[in-house]
Amino acid sequence: MAKLCIDGKKTEGHINPEIYGQFAEHLGRGIYEGIYVGEDSEIPNTNGMRNDVVAALKEMKVPVLRWPGGCFADEYHWKDGIGPKQNRKRIVNVNWGNTVEDNSFGTHEFFELCKQLGCKTYINGNVGSGTVQEMEEWIDYMTFKGESPMANLRRENGHEDTWSVDYFGVGNENWGCGGNMTPQYYANLYRRYQTFVRDYDNEKPIAKICCGANSDDYEWTEEVMKTCHYKAPEHLHGFMDGLSLHYYTIPRGDWTNKGSATKFDKDEYYTTLYKTKYMEELIRKHTNIMSKYADPKDVGLIVDEWGCWYDVEPGTNPGFLYQQNTMRDAMVAAINFDIFNHNCNVVRMANIAQMVNVLASSILTEGEAMILTPTYYAFHMYRFHQDAELVHTYLTENSLVGTKEGEQIEKITQTVSKGSDGILNITMSNLSVDSEETVDVMISGVENIKVLEASSLNGKMDACNTFEQTDAVQEMEFTEYSLEGNMIKVVLPPCSIVLLRVSE
Ligand code: AHR
Repeated sequence: MAKLCIDGKKTEGHINPEIYGQFAEHLGRGIYEGIYVGEDSEIPNTNGMRNDVVAALKEMKVPVLRWPGGCFADEYHWKDGIGPKQNRKRIVNVNWGNTVEDNSFGTHEFFELCKQLGCKTYINGNVGSGTVQEMEEWIDYMTFKGESPMANLRRENGHEDTWSVDYFGVGNENWGCGGNMTPQYYANLYRRYQTFVRDYDNEKPIAKICCGANSDDYEWTEEVMKTCHYKAPEHLHGFMDGLSLHYYTIPRGDWTNKGSATKFDKDEYYTTLYKTKYMEELIRKHTNIMSKYADPKDVGLIVDEWGCWYDVEPGTNPGFLYQQNTMRDAMVAAINFDIFNHNCNVVRMANIAQMVNVLASSILTEGEAMILTPTYYAFHMYRFHQDAELVHTYLTENSLVGTKEGEQIEKITQTVSKGSDGILNITMSNLSVDSEETVDVMISGVENIKVLEASSLNGKMDACNTFEQTDAVQEMEFTEYSLEGNMIKVVLPPCSIVLLRVSE
Protein backbone atom coordinates (compact mmCIF):
# COMPACT_ATOMS: atom_id res chain seq x y z
CA MET A 1 0.00 0.00 0.00
CA ALA A 2 1.47 3.38 -1.02
CA LYS A 3 1.28 6.58 1.01
CA LEU A 4 1.07 10.02 -0.56
CA CYS A 5 1.94 12.73 1.97
CA ILE A 6 0.80 16.20 1.02
CA ASP A 7 1.92 19.34 2.79
CA GLY A 8 -0.98 21.58 1.85
CA LYS A 9 0.81 24.69 3.11
CA LYS A 10 4.10 24.27 1.25
CA THR A 11 4.29 25.16 -2.43
CA GLU A 12 7.27 24.62 -4.71
CA GLY A 13 6.67 26.55 -7.90
CA HIS A 14 4.13 27.84 -10.37
CA ILE A 15 2.74 25.49 -13.02
CA ASN A 16 2.68 27.60 -16.15
CA PRO A 17 -0.55 26.80 -18.09
CA GLU A 18 1.54 26.53 -21.26
CA ILE A 19 2.88 23.18 -19.96
CA TYR A 20 -0.43 21.83 -21.29
CA GLY A 21 0.15 23.35 -24.73
CA GLN A 22 -0.83 21.92 -28.10
CA PHE A 23 0.76 21.76 -31.54
CA ALA A 24 -0.94 21.74 -34.95
CA GLU A 25 1.15 21.39 -38.09
CA HIS A 26 0.25 21.42 -41.76
CA LEU A 27 0.59 17.65 -41.81
CA GLY A 28 -1.88 15.06 -43.04
CA ARG A 29 -5.35 15.79 -41.68
CA GLY A 30 -4.08 17.75 -38.69
CA ILE A 31 -5.38 21.11 -39.83
CA TYR A 32 -7.35 20.50 -43.01
CA GLU A 33 -10.33 18.23 -42.20
CA GLY A 34 -9.37 17.97 -38.51
CA ILE A 35 -9.76 21.62 -37.56
CA TYR A 36 -10.32 23.73 -40.65
CA VAL A 37 -12.98 22.73 -43.16
CA GLY A 38 -13.62 26.13 -44.75
CA GLU A 39 -16.68 28.34 -44.53
CA ASP A 40 -18.50 26.47 -47.31
CA SER A 41 -18.25 23.04 -45.71
CA GLU A 42 -21.34 21.08 -44.74
CA ILE A 43 -19.61 20.30 -41.47
CA PRO A 44 -20.90 22.89 -39.01
CA ASN A 45 -18.21 25.54 -38.65
CA THR A 46 -17.52 29.08 -37.57
CA ASN A 47 -15.34 30.98 -40.00
CA GLY A 48 -14.16 27.62 -41.33
CA MET A 49 -13.27 26.04 -37.94
CA ARG A 50 -15.16 22.88 -37.02
CA ASN A 51 -17.60 23.66 -34.21
CA ASP A 52 -17.40 20.18 -32.69
CA VAL A 53 -13.60 20.16 -32.51
CA VAL A 54 -13.35 23.72 -31.18
CA ALA A 55 -15.98 23.03 -28.49
CA ALA A 56 -14.18 19.87 -27.36
CA LEU A 57 -10.83 21.66 -27.26
CA LYS A 58 -12.28 24.52 -25.24
CA GLU A 59 -13.65 22.04 -22.74
CA MET A 60 -10.20 20.42 -22.54
CA LYS A 61 -8.63 23.89 -22.03
CA VAL A 62 -5.92 24.72 -24.54
CA PRO A 63 -3.54 27.35 -23.11
CA VAL A 64 -1.33 27.84 -26.18
CA LEU A 65 -1.13 26.55 -29.74
CA ARG A 66 2.06 26.08 -31.76
CA TRP A 67 1.82 26.46 -35.56
CA PRO A 68 2.57 25.97 -38.55
CA GLY A 69 5.18 23.26 -37.85
CA GLY A 70 7.28 21.24 -37.24
CA CYS A 71 9.27 20.51 -40.35
CA PHE A 72 6.63 22.40 -42.33
CA ALA A 73 7.67 25.65 -40.61
CA ASP A 74 11.09 25.77 -42.28
CA GLU A 75 9.49 25.46 -45.73
CA TYR A 76 6.61 27.81 -45.01
CA HIS A 77 6.49 31.18 -46.69
CA TRP A 78 3.85 33.11 -44.85
CA LYS A 79 2.94 35.41 -47.74
CA ASP A 80 1.57 32.32 -49.56
CA GLY A 81 -1.14 32.14 -46.89
CA ILE A 82 -2.64 35.65 -46.87
CA GLY A 83 -5.04 37.57 -49.10
CA PRO A 84 -8.01 36.30 -51.12
CA LYS A 85 -8.08 32.51 -50.95
CA GLN A 86 -8.49 32.03 -54.68
CA ASN A 87 -5.16 33.81 -55.22
CA ARG A 88 -3.21 31.84 -52.66
CA LYS A 89 -0.34 29.73 -53.95
CA ARG A 90 -0.86 26.01 -54.22
CA ILE A 91 2.38 24.41 -53.10
CA VAL A 92 3.64 20.90 -52.48
CA ASN A 93 3.92 19.82 -48.86
CA VAL A 94 7.21 18.02 -49.44
CA ASN A 95 7.73 16.94 -45.86
CA TRP A 96 4.38 15.29 -45.47
CA GLY A 97 3.26 13.13 -48.37
CA ASN A 98 3.80 15.59 -51.25
CA THR A 99 0.19 16.66 -51.01
CA VAL A 100 -1.13 19.94 -52.38
CA GLU A 101 -1.15 22.66 -49.74
CA ASP A 102 -3.58 25.31 -50.91
CA ASN A 103 -2.66 27.73 -48.13
CA SER A 104 -6.30 28.33 -47.27
CA PHE A 105 -5.31 28.17 -43.61
CA GLY A 106 -2.77 30.93 -43.04
CA THR A 107 -1.93 33.66 -40.57
CA HIS A 108 -5.43 35.15 -40.33
CA GLU A 109 -7.00 31.73 -39.91
CA PHE A 110 -4.49 30.75 -37.21
CA PHE A 111 -5.33 33.81 -35.13
CA GLU A 112 -9.03 33.21 -35.69
CA LEU A 113 -8.61 29.65 -34.35
CA CYS A 114 -6.71 30.89 -31.29
CA LYS A 115 -9.39 33.49 -30.70
CA GLN A 116 -12.06 30.79 -30.77
CA LEU A 117 -10.01 28.59 -28.44
CA GLY A 118 -9.15 31.51 -26.17
CA CYS A 119 -5.48 30.51 -26.18
CA LYS A 120 -2.06 32.08 -26.52
CA THR A 121 -0.17 31.94 -29.80
CA TYR A 122 3.14 30.27 -30.61
CA ILE A 123 4.31 30.80 -34.17
CA ASN A 124 7.29 28.95 -35.55
CA GLY A 125 9.31 30.94 -38.08
CA ASN A 126 11.33 29.77 -41.04
CA VAL A 127 15.12 29.80 -40.75
CA GLY A 128 15.85 26.75 -42.91
CA SER A 129 14.61 28.14 -46.23
CA GLY A 130 13.39 31.61 -45.34
CA THR A 131 15.13 34.96 -45.31
CA VAL A 132 15.67 37.35 -42.45
CA GLN A 133 13.57 39.87 -44.32
CA GLU A 134 10.70 37.40 -44.58
CA MET A 135 10.77 36.77 -40.84
CA GLU A 136 11.03 40.46 -40.06
CA GLU A 137 8.10 41.26 -42.33
CA TRP A 138 5.94 38.56 -40.76
CA ILE A 139 6.47 40.07 -37.31
CA ASP A 140 5.71 43.50 -38.77
CA TYR A 141 2.54 42.19 -40.49
CA MET A 142 1.24 40.64 -37.29
CA THR A 143 2.25 43.15 -34.65
CA PHE A 144 2.99 46.61 -36.06
CA LYS A 145 0.31 49.15 -35.19
CA GLY A 146 1.59 52.09 -37.23
CA GLU A 147 1.97 52.58 -40.92
CA SER A 148 4.35 50.28 -42.77
CA PRO A 149 4.05 48.31 -46.00
CA MET A 150 3.31 45.11 -44.05
CA ALA A 151 0.92 46.67 -41.55
CA ASN A 152 -0.92 48.27 -44.47
CA LEU A 153 -1.08 44.92 -46.24
CA ARG A 154 -2.65 43.38 -43.12
CA ARG A 155 -5.27 46.11 -43.21
CA GLU A 156 -5.90 45.57 -46.92
CA ASN A 157 -6.48 41.91 -46.05
CA GLY A 158 -9.20 42.90 -43.65
CA HIS A 159 -7.47 43.06 -40.28
CA GLU A 160 -7.08 46.51 -38.79
CA ASP A 161 -5.87 45.40 -35.38
CA THR A 162 -2.57 43.76 -34.65
CA TRP A 163 -2.47 40.31 -33.12
CA SER A 164 -0.62 39.14 -30.06
CA VAL A 165 2.29 36.84 -30.83
CA ASP A 166 3.08 35.35 -27.44
CA TYR A 167 5.90 33.03 -28.52
CA PHE A 168 7.95 32.97 -31.69
CA GLY A 169 10.20 30.02 -32.59
CA VAL A 170 13.26 30.95 -34.64
CA GLY A 171 13.40 27.76 -36.70
CA ASN A 172 12.46 24.16 -35.92
CA GLU A 173 14.72 21.13 -35.71
CA ASN A 174 17.48 23.04 -37.48
CA TRP A 175 19.76 20.08 -36.75
CA GLY A 176 17.51 18.04 -39.09
CA CYS A 177 14.59 18.93 -41.35
CA GLY A 178 15.14 22.63 -40.60
CA GLY A 179 18.45 22.81 -42.49
CA ASN A 180 20.78 20.06 -41.20
CA MET A 181 22.90 22.66 -39.45
CA THR A 182 25.69 22.25 -36.95
CA PRO A 183 25.01 23.86 -33.56
CA GLN A 184 27.65 26.51 -34.21
CA TYR A 185 26.16 27.45 -37.58
CA TYR A 186 22.60 27.56 -36.26
CA ALA A 187 23.63 29.50 -33.16
CA ASN A 188 25.09 32.30 -35.26
CA LEU A 189 22.08 32.33 -37.55
CA TYR A 190 19.84 32.43 -34.50
CA ARG A 191 21.61 35.54 -33.19
CA ARG A 192 21.05 37.22 -36.53
CA TYR A 193 17.41 36.18 -37.15
CA GLN A 194 16.22 36.90 -33.62
CA THR A 195 17.47 40.48 -33.95
CA PHE A 196 14.63 41.12 -36.38
CA VAL A 197 11.94 39.56 -34.21
CA ARG A 198 11.15 43.02 -32.92
CA ASP A 199 8.93 44.02 -30.06
CA TYR A 200 6.79 46.61 -31.78
CA ASP A 201 4.45 46.49 -28.84
CA ASN A 202 6.39 46.82 -25.61
CA GLU A 203 3.37 45.87 -23.56
CA LYS A 204 3.27 42.49 -25.25
CA PRO A 205 6.88 41.44 -25.82
CA ILE A 206 7.33 38.32 -27.94
CA ALA A 207 9.03 35.44 -26.13
CA LYS A 208 11.74 34.19 -28.50
CA ILE A 209 12.34 30.46 -28.65
CA CYS A 210 15.67 29.16 -29.86
CA CYS A 211 15.77 25.73 -31.50
CA GLY A 212 17.03 23.20 -28.99
CA ALA A 213 18.18 19.65 -29.03
CA ASN A 214 16.92 16.40 -30.36
CA SER A 215 16.56 14.18 -27.32
CA ASP A 216 19.96 13.73 -25.63
CA ASP A 217 22.09 15.90 -27.90
CA TYR A 218 23.71 17.79 -25.03
CA GLU A 219 26.42 19.20 -27.27
CA TRP A 220 23.74 21.12 -29.17
CA THR A 221 22.45 22.67 -25.94
CA GLU A 222 25.95 23.59 -24.77
CA GLU A 223 26.99 25.21 -28.06
CA VAL A 224 23.76 27.05 -28.67
CA MET A 225 23.50 28.39 -25.13
CA LYS A 226 27.13 29.48 -25.18
CA THR A 227 26.73 31.45 -28.39
CA CYS A 228 23.16 32.68 -28.23
CA HIS A 229 22.40 33.61 -24.71
CA TYR A 230 22.56 37.28 -24.03
CA LYS A 231 20.70 38.86 -21.17
CA ALA A 232 19.90 42.44 -21.98
CA PRO A 233 19.68 45.27 -19.45
CA GLU A 234 16.27 45.51 -17.84
CA HIS A 235 14.46 47.67 -20.40
CA LEU A 236 15.71 45.70 -23.41
CA HIS A 237 15.01 42.22 -24.68
CA GLY A 238 17.65 39.48 -24.45
CA PHE A 239 18.41 37.11 -27.27
CA MET A 240 16.22 34.27 -26.06
CA ASP A 241 13.45 33.41 -23.64
CA GLY A 242 13.33 29.69 -24.18
CA LEU A 243 15.21 26.78 -25.66
CA SER A 244 13.24 23.91 -27.14
CA LEU A 245 13.61 20.16 -26.69
CA HIS A 246 12.02 17.40 -28.77
CA TYR A 247 11.62 13.93 -27.38
CA TYR A 248 9.25 11.29 -28.71
CA THR A 249 8.51 7.94 -27.08
CA ILE A 250 9.10 5.28 -29.73
CA PRO A 251 8.26 1.91 -28.20
CA ARG A 252 10.67 -0.19 -30.27
CA GLY A 253 13.21 2.60 -30.65
CA ASP A 254 13.45 1.92 -34.38
CA TRP A 255 12.16 4.41 -36.97
CA THR A 256 11.40 1.63 -39.45
CA ASN A 257 9.52 -0.47 -36.91
CA LYS A 258 8.23 1.82 -34.20
CA GLY A 259 5.45 -0.48 -33.02
CA SER A 260 1.68 -0.44 -33.46
CA ALA A 261 -0.56 2.05 -31.67
CA THR A 262 -3.07 -0.61 -30.69
CA LYS A 263 -1.46 -4.02 -30.97
CA PHE A 264 1.12 -4.46 -28.25
CA ASP A 265 1.73 -6.78 -25.35
CA LYS A 266 2.48 -6.14 -21.70
CA ASP A 267 6.23 -6.03 -22.33
CA GLU A 268 5.85 -3.32 -24.93
CA TYR A 269 3.44 -1.39 -22.71
CA TYR A 270 5.97 -1.21 -19.90
CA THR A 271 8.85 -0.48 -22.28
CA THR A 272 6.84 2.45 -23.63
CA LEU A 273 6.31 3.87 -20.16
CA TYR A 274 9.92 3.25 -19.19
CA LYS A 275 11.09 5.14 -22.27
CA THR A 276 8.73 7.98 -21.46
CA LYS A 277 10.31 8.36 -18.02
CA TYR A 278 13.56 9.24 -19.81
CA MET A 279 12.08 12.73 -20.15
CA GLU A 280 13.06 13.33 -16.53
CA GLU A 281 16.75 12.75 -17.21
CA LEU A 282 16.62 14.84 -20.38
CA ILE A 283 15.12 17.79 -18.54
CA ARG A 284 17.64 17.52 -15.72
CA LYS A 285 20.68 17.31 -17.98
CA HIS A 286 19.62 19.96 -20.50
CA THR A 287 18.60 22.44 -17.81
CA ASN A 288 21.85 21.85 -15.93
CA ILE A 289 23.71 22.96 -19.02
CA MET A 290 21.35 25.87 -19.63
CA SER A 291 21.74 27.10 -16.07
CA LYS A 292 25.48 27.58 -16.59
CA TYR A 293 24.58 30.39 -18.98
CA ALA A 294 21.19 31.71 -17.89
CA ASP A 295 18.83 31.84 -14.98
CA PRO A 296 15.88 29.45 -15.65
CA LYS A 297 13.59 32.40 -14.91
CA ASP A 298 15.03 34.13 -17.98
CA VAL A 299 15.39 31.15 -20.32
CA GLY A 300 12.97 28.29 -19.81
CA LEU A 301 12.92 24.85 -21.36
CA ILE A 302 10.22 24.48 -24.02
CA VAL A 303 9.41 20.84 -24.68
CA ASP A 304 7.52 21.68 -27.82
CA GLU A 305 7.21 18.17 -29.24
CA TRP A 306 6.50 15.12 -27.11
CA GLY A 307 4.29 12.04 -27.14
CA CYS A 308 4.24 8.56 -28.63
CA TRP A 309 5.18 8.00 -32.25
CA TYR A 310 3.98 4.66 -33.67
CA ASP A 311 3.70 3.08 -37.10
CA VAL A 312 0.82 4.72 -38.99
CA GLU A 313 -2.57 3.00 -38.98
CA PRO A 314 -2.58 0.28 -41.66
CA GLY A 315 -3.90 1.54 -44.97
CA THR A 316 -3.29 5.22 -44.22
CA ASN A 317 -0.85 7.54 -45.99
CA PRO A 318 2.58 7.06 -44.33
CA GLY A 319 3.19 10.81 -44.69
CA PHE A 320 0.12 11.66 -42.61
CA LEU A 321 1.31 10.18 -39.29
CA TYR A 322 -2.21 9.12 -38.35
CA GLN A 323 -2.35 6.79 -35.36
CA GLN A 324 -4.91 5.48 -32.90
CA ASN A 325 -4.65 6.33 -29.22
CA THR A 326 -5.16 3.96 -26.28
CA MET A 327 -5.03 3.96 -22.50
CA ARG A 328 -1.28 3.48 -22.90
CA ASP A 329 -1.12 6.97 -24.40
CA ALA A 330 -3.09 8.39 -21.48
CA MET A 331 -0.51 6.87 -19.11
CA VAL A 332 2.30 8.33 -21.23
CA ALA A 333 0.60 11.73 -20.99
CA ALA A 334 0.21 11.39 -17.21
CA ILE A 335 3.90 10.52 -16.80
CA ASN A 336 4.97 13.48 -18.92
CA PHE A 337 2.58 15.88 -17.18
CA ASP A 338 3.89 14.82 -13.78
CA ILE A 339 7.48 15.27 -14.92
CA PHE A 340 6.71 18.72 -16.33
CA ASN A 341 4.77 19.76 -13.22
CA HIS A 342 7.54 18.65 -10.88
CA ASN A 343 10.01 20.60 -13.01
CA CYS A 344 7.82 23.66 -13.35
CA ASN A 345 10.62 25.95 -12.23
CA VAL A 346 12.53 25.15 -15.41
CA VAL A 347 9.90 23.90 -17.90
CA ARG A 348 7.98 26.90 -19.15
CA MET A 349 5.99 25.31 -21.95
CA ALA A 350 5.35 21.87 -23.47
CA ASN A 351 3.36 21.07 -26.61
CA ILE A 352 2.14 17.58 -27.35
CA ALA A 353 2.62 16.42 -30.93
CA GLN A 354 -0.03 16.87 -32.09
CA MET A 355 -3.59 18.12 -31.43
CA VAL A 356 -5.89 16.48 -34.02
CA ASN A 357 -5.42 13.46 -36.35
CA VAL A 358 -1.61 13.43 -36.11
CA LEU A 359 0.53 11.29 -33.76
CA ALA A 360 -0.62 11.39 -30.09
CA SER A 361 -3.82 13.32 -30.77
CA SER A 362 -6.53 14.30 -28.35
CA ILE A 363 -9.10 14.26 -31.14
CA LEU A 364 -9.60 12.07 -34.21
CA THR A 365 -12.01 12.89 -37.02
CA GLU A 366 -13.48 11.03 -39.96
CA GLY A 367 -15.68 13.16 -42.20
CA GLU A 368 -18.12 14.85 -39.89
CA ALA A 369 -17.54 12.37 -37.06
CA MET A 370 -15.23 13.12 -34.16
CA ILE A 371 -13.93 11.02 -31.28
CA LEU A 372 -12.12 11.97 -28.10
CA THR A 373 -9.10 9.84 -27.25
CA PRO A 374 -7.74 8.71 -23.87
CA THR A 375 -5.11 11.46 -24.26
CA TYR A 376 -7.95 13.98 -24.45
CA TYR A 377 -9.29 12.83 -21.11
CA ALA A 378 -5.82 12.94 -19.53
CA PHE A 379 -5.54 16.61 -20.57
CA HIS A 380 -9.05 17.24 -19.32
CA MET A 381 -8.37 15.75 -15.89
CA TYR A 382 -5.07 17.61 -15.50
CA ARG A 383 -6.51 20.97 -16.55
CA PHE A 384 -6.88 22.09 -12.96
CA HIS A 385 -3.09 22.11 -12.58
CA GLN A 386 -2.85 24.89 -15.16
CA ASP A 387 -1.77 28.11 -13.46
CA ALA A 388 -1.76 26.45 -10.02
CA GLU A 389 1.03 26.16 -7.45
CA LEU A 390 2.85 22.86 -7.18
CA VAL A 391 2.36 21.47 -3.67
CA HIS A 392 5.11 19.67 -1.75
CA THR A 393 4.49 15.91 -1.65
CA TYR A 394 6.31 12.68 -1.09
CA LEU A 395 5.33 9.14 -1.90
CA THR A 396 6.41 6.17 0.17
CA GLU A 397 6.07 2.45 -0.41
CA ASN A 398 5.70 3.01 -4.11
CA SER A 399 6.42 -0.44 -5.55
CA LEU A 400 7.99 -1.12 -8.92
CA VAL A 401 6.22 -2.51 -11.97
CA GLY A 402 7.45 -3.80 -15.31
CA THR A 403 8.25 -7.07 -16.98
CA LYS A 404 11.86 -6.57 -18.04
CA GLU A 405 14.89 -6.36 -15.85
CA GLY A 406 16.39 -2.90 -15.87
CA GLU A 407 13.12 -1.35 -17.10
CA GLN A 408 11.16 -1.24 -13.86
CA ILE A 409 9.21 1.92 -13.09
CA GLU A 410 7.42 3.20 -10.01
CA LYS A 411 3.82 2.10 -9.97
CA ILE A 412 2.28 5.43 -8.96
CA THR A 413 2.98 8.83 -10.47
CA GLN A 414 1.27 11.97 -9.16
CA THR A 415 0.93 15.72 -9.01
CA VAL A 416 -0.70 17.84 -6.34
CA SER A 417 -1.33 21.51 -6.90
CA LYS A 418 -3.25 24.33 -5.27
CA GLY A 419 -5.31 26.66 -7.40
CA SER A 420 -5.94 30.33 -6.68
CA ASP A 421 -9.33 29.19 -5.29
CA GLY A 422 -7.45 27.30 -2.55
CA ILE A 423 -8.61 23.91 -3.84
CA LEU A 424 -6.11 21.06 -3.84
CA ASN A 425 -5.96 19.18 -7.14
CA ILE A 426 -4.66 15.65 -6.74
CA THR A 427 -3.99 13.50 -9.81
CA MET A 428 -2.61 10.01 -9.31
CA SER A 429 -1.95 7.37 -11.94
CA ASN A 430 -1.51 3.67 -11.46
CA LEU A 431 0.81 2.45 -14.21
CA SER A 432 0.31 -1.24 -13.48
CA VAL A 433 -1.52 -3.14 -16.20
CA ASP A 434 -3.20 -5.54 -13.86
CA SER A 435 -3.01 -4.69 -10.20
CA GLU A 436 -4.93 -2.07 -8.32
CA GLU A 437 -3.24 0.00 -5.60
CA THR A 438 -4.58 1.44 -2.40
CA VAL A 439 -3.03 4.81 -1.65
CA ASP A 440 -3.33 6.52 1.72
CA VAL A 441 -3.41 10.20 0.89
CA MET A 442 -2.37 12.07 4.04
CA ILE A 443 -2.96 15.81 3.93
CA SER A 444 -1.38 18.13 6.46
CA GLY A 445 -2.00 21.86 6.80
CA VAL A 446 -5.64 21.59 5.73
CA GLU A 447 -8.45 21.22 8.29
CA ASN A 448 -11.67 19.23 7.80
CA ILE A 449 -11.06 18.15 4.27
CA LYS A 450 -13.89 17.63 1.82
CA VAL A 451 -13.71 15.88 -1.52
CA LEU A 452 -15.49 18.21 -3.92
CA GLU A 453 -15.13 16.20 -7.08
CA ALA A 454 -13.59 12.89 -8.11
CA SER A 455 -13.21 11.31 -11.51
CA SER A 456 -11.21 8.54 -13.13
CA LEU A 457 -10.08 7.28 -16.48
CA ASN A 458 -9.25 3.62 -16.69
CA GLY A 459 -9.42 0.60 -18.92
CA LYS A 460 -7.34 -2.12 -20.47
CA MET A 461 -3.92 -0.93 -21.62
CA ASP A 462 -5.02 -1.10 -25.29
CA ALA A 463 -8.56 0.22 -24.81
CA CYS A 464 -9.45 2.98 -27.25
CA ASN A 465 -12.38 4.82 -28.73
CA THR A 466 -13.30 4.14 -32.32
CA PHE A 467 -15.79 5.64 -34.76
CA GLU A 468 -17.93 2.56 -34.16
CA GLN A 469 -17.65 2.74 -30.37
CA THR A 470 -16.97 6.29 -29.37
CA ASP A 471 -17.24 5.92 -25.59
CA ALA A 472 -15.28 2.77 -24.71
CA VAL A 473 -12.88 4.94 -22.72
CA GLN A 474 -14.05 8.06 -20.96
CA GLU A 475 -13.69 10.05 -17.77
CA MET A 476 -16.19 8.80 -15.19
CA GLU A 477 -17.27 9.72 -11.71
CA PHE A 478 -14.99 8.03 -9.17
CA THR A 479 -16.24 6.62 -5.87
CA GLU A 480 -13.51 4.23 -4.70
CA TYR A 481 -12.30 6.38 -1.84
CA SER A 482 -13.14 6.95 1.80
CA LEU A 483 -12.37 9.82 4.14
CA GLU A 484 -10.77 9.05 7.48
CA GLY A 485 -10.05 12.37 9.23
CA ASN A 486 -7.33 14.06 7.20
CA MET A 487 -6.59 10.92 5.27
CA ILE A 488 -8.24 9.76 2.07
CA LYS A 489 -7.96 6.09 1.26
CA VAL A 490 -8.08 5.72 -2.49
CA VAL A 491 -8.20 2.52 -4.49
CA LEU A 492 -6.63 3.13 -7.88
CA PRO A 493 -7.75 0.68 -10.55
CA PRO A 494 -5.07 -0.84 -12.80
CA CYS A 495 -4.05 1.40 -15.69
CA SER A 496 -5.84 4.47 -14.40
CA ILE A 497 -5.72 8.19 -13.74
CA VAL A 498 -7.71 9.48 -10.78
CA LEU A 499 -8.50 13.11 -10.03
CA LEU A 500 -9.59 14.30 -6.58
CA ARG A 501 -10.36 17.93 -5.81
CA VAL A 502 -10.18 18.66 -2.14
CA SER A 503 -10.96 21.70 -0.01
CA GLU A 504 -11.08 22.58 3.67
O1 AHR B 1 5.51 16.13 -35.25
C1 AHR B 1 5.97 15.59 -36.45
C2 AHR B 1 7.38 16.06 -36.80
O2 AHR B 1 8.28 15.58 -35.85
C3 AHR B 1 7.61 17.53 -36.79
O3 AHR B 1 7.24 18.13 -37.98
C4 AHR B 1 9.08 17.65 -36.59
O4 AHR B 1 9.46 18.82 -35.93
C5 AHR B 1 9.42 16.40 -35.82
O5 AHR B 1 10.48 15.71 -36.39
